[in-house]
Amino acid sequence: MWDHHYVKLRVSLVIELHYAHGYLGSTWLSPLTNTRTDRYGGSLENRMRFGLETAHRVRTVIPKETPLFVRISVTDYEVDGGWDVTQSVEFAKRLKAIGVDAVDCSSGGVVAHVDYGPLNTPEVQHKASATIQREAGIPTAAVGKIVHPFQAERLLQGNSATLIFIGRAFLNNPHWAYGAADALANPESFKYPDPHDWFIGWKAFYKWRQDLHTYVILAITLEDYANGDYIPRYQS
Ligand SMILES: Cc1cc2nc3c(=O)[nH]c(=O)nc-3n(C[C@H](O)[C@H](O)[C@H](O)COP(=O)(O)O)c2cc1C
Repeated sequence: MWDHHYVKLRVSLVIELHYAHGYLGSTWLSPLTNTRTDRYGGSLENRMRFGLETAHRVRTVIPKETPLFVRISVTDYEVDGGWDVTQSVEFAKRLKAIGVDAVDCSSGGVVAHVDYGPLNTPEVQHKASATIQREAGIPTAAVGKIVHPFQAERLLQGNSATLIFIGRAFLNNPHWAYGAADALANPESFKYPDPHDWFIGWKAFYKWRQDLHTYVILAITLEDYANGDYIPRYQS
């Protein structure tokens, strides 16, 4: 099922329900915002009801081959009484049971007073992604401050996620995917699209380019770690 979707992902529509960041879906899930006293509030089962019913209805009306994802906030970053990874795992299990294909692991945004600076590190979302994928048995998407191809590859190879979602690195470099393929792919199988291949895609130069890429990334990464900054400040 997933292999089938994975192939399809390259060509078809994906629908993602947004149950994160304080948008409507997440306000039902979080005990900080859901203060209802009917069957849609209170217990975890009740707070999940709106999200599960909505996802179920969407799953039943969209084509079977259209992947359905759900974005959640894996934590509210509240010590007492907020939504957390344990509840996310339970929710993910239920989403899986109704045919949701992947859980996109974001965080926060439900309450206004949180200082995200020290909290919203990549590790929070990536670790939650690994936990949810392992414990709920549903493919997850890791998102947040993924910049380097090797960083993305480590998350995939380490079973922290099945999908990598990238935002700002793509804004910084719309050719990010080519760079990643160049750095990671098998030189015998990877080929740039024709307009680029005649210039930079020569197989003879593959190893040279790959080594260069590795050294540049390594140098940038080391410098950023030395500066205590996770996100490289460079224009590629
Ligand atoms: C300026 C800005 C606005 C964003 N707005 C939204 C939003 O409206 N909805 C959403 O789901 N995520 C939003 N995000 C989060 C992104 O979808 C993504 O999860 C985040 O940028 C982390 O990925 P990145 O580090 O690869 O950019 C926003 C991020 C930024 C930087």
